[in-house]
Amino acid sequence: MTEQEIQAGLQGGLQVLWRSEPLLGSIYDEEEIAAAVTAMREAMDFTRGFGFSASPIPEFEQAFAKYVGAADAVAVNSCGPGLDMVMRYLNLQPGDEVIVPACNYIAAALAVIGAGGQVVLGECDPLYFQLDPADVEKKISPRTRAIFPVHFNGLSAPLAEYQACAERHPHPVHGPAKIVADAARACGGSYRGEKIGCGKHAWATIFSFHTMKNMTTLGEGGMISTDDLALSAYCRSVRMYGSAAGAWGTSNVLTKVQAAVGLVQLSKLDRFIAMRRSVAALRTKLLQGLPGLQLPCEPADCQHSYYLYTCLVDESLAGPGRDAIMQRMEEEFKVRCVIANRPIYMGHPLIARHTAGQRTMQSEALAERIICVPIHPAMSESDNRYICAALHRCLQA
Ligand SMILES: Cc1ncc(COP(=O)(O)O)c(C=O)c1O
Repeated sequence: MTEQEIQAGLQGGLQVLWRSEPLLGSIYDEEEIAAAVTAMREAMDFTRGFGFSASPIPEFEQAFAKYVGAADAVAVNSCGPGLDMVMRYLNLQPGDEVIVPACNYIAAALAVIGAGGQVVLGECDPLYFQLDPADVEKKISPRTRAIFPVHFNGLSAPLAEYQACAERHPHPVHGPAKIVADAARACGGSYRGEKIGCGKHAWATIFSFHTMKNMTTLGEGGMISTDDLALSAYCRSVRMYGSAAGAWGTSNVLTKVQAAVGLVQLSKLDRFIAMRRSVAALRTKLLQGLPGLQLPCEPADCQHSYYLYTCLVDESLAGPGRDAIMQRMEEEFKVRCVIANRPIYMGHPLIARHTAGQRTMQSEALAERIICVPIHPAMSESDNRYICAALHRCLQA
């Protein structure tokens, strides 16, 4: 940006106080309200009510499976229980390992621990922030049952590389480690011409419809997509106390009203992603060449969904330099950026105890340099220009 553009950008001010991950990540309008009201009116019939697995829950599952290109999809009340169910299905025995990226939300590691497995921490690569396939190659062992990447901040992880690694080093009893993908932040993104969640690229993919995510089912919700019909039958049973599968279960159902709203959100998801991508494209243009800042990269075989706009400051600004930029962005310009995420063992005592003795130095160094700048499909060009101008100011000084 030229000095003139920076001044003009700042003069525009902010129309919305954009904060880290905006608390509503998608856009709602009268269509979602109408869908919710219709579902509630249907439920007022004493013979129908809200349950069980009432229409349009199956319709939402089928539409979602079709959208991502999977044989089946199972709706759940949030992503976390979905991760738990998939890990439980593996019937992990003491000593069984699952490779999880270090820079991550805590949910995947907790799912492994909850299912009785051992978390093996993998490094994240410094360009795309994904579980580093080169490190997976080093960490995979005869005890590895699953590789559990997260599609970090909206971009697909390199699934084919994990799959190839799993096939090169099969488990002696169970065969190649299963690829389980946490797509909580990546709904609507693409990999190799298919949507994230397509059954041919991962054994199971688990999505979140939490309020901050790319689409939301009234603030909470999730979905598991898979081509493995035995897995989907198990998850469908476990979300309702497990009787059909003869397995442990509890109640993890999505409601009829959420599913009705989910169908509307799903029909708009490609538009939301296109809007996010266009905000990101302008931002990348305005920040290009700004010294000290590495901008998000998109591999040729992926379509980033830009859940977050993830940047890296130069090594010379790592730690205190990055923190000072974030502080100035917030205090002077009212834009709150976020560090997403530090290595999971840094903030969660149970995970720290469970992974004691494992360190991921590359990921720890990355976490000192990450800065995620707010992005939203409804962000105006003027707000985007203001945020870019503020970043120019904070990095120029
Ligand atoms: C990467 C990742 N995984 C899992 C979750 C958990 O999602 P939910 O809140 O739907 O259980 C989140 C939520 O923030 C997340 O970011």
